[in-house]
Amino acid sequence: MADLLVGNGFKDVGYLRQGIVGWGNLLVPKRINPESDNYALYQFNRPGKASCSYLLTCGKEAMVFDPSRNIEAYIGLAAQRDATIVRSFETHRQADYISGGPALAEKTGYAMMAARSDFEGADFPFEAVADNDCFSFTAPGPEIRAPHTPGHTMGSTCYLIGNKYLLSGDTIFINTSGRPDLGGKWEQWARELYLTLMLRLRGLSDD
Ligand SMILES: [Fe+2]
Repeated sequence: MADLLVGNGFKDVGYLRQGIVGWGNLLVPKRINPESDNYALYQFNRPGKASCSYLLTCGKEAMVFDPSRNIEAYIGLAAQRDATIVRSFETHRQADYISGGPALAEKTGYAMMAARSDFEGADFPFEAVADNDCFSFTAPGPEIRAPHTPGHTMGSTCYLIGNKYLLSGDTIFINTSGRPDLGGKWEQWARELYLTLMLRLRGLSDD
């Protein structure tokens, strides 16, 4: 393709070093919270898929949220911070990409956490997250609360970190909410999503 472009007079032409597969796997981490916090939260932007995943580290431990299959990126950044991954979490069963959770669990020996209603019958092991389960680190740090927020999927779960950062999966975005129609039960799921937004998330700070 690049040859064709050059042959047609284009000059500023380059190859993607690892091709489209490399582009699909690319993860770009960005620190979200202030350096002065006693924990670090990174957002991994995946431009090839327009999706995000997160790494939360505190002391020697790290947790990952919605990992993609490029699990070395999370393991590498955790190692850079002298931490190892002790858990991964899914916000929901994604319709548009394959989770790295099972691979991460196999590699680290730690559990993949997910809502039972989204992952029932899966052929890989996971531990169920129930409504408002709380998780913490060994070192002093943020608590992670997991409100069940059905609507985009029936198992959709958000993770509220230190009562400040809401990892919302596809439940809510900056200007809109997730689609309730992808499971073919839009009437029921739209009702659930409405209740989630009005009763479960509206009480949170607008930030
Ligand atoms: Fe989704």
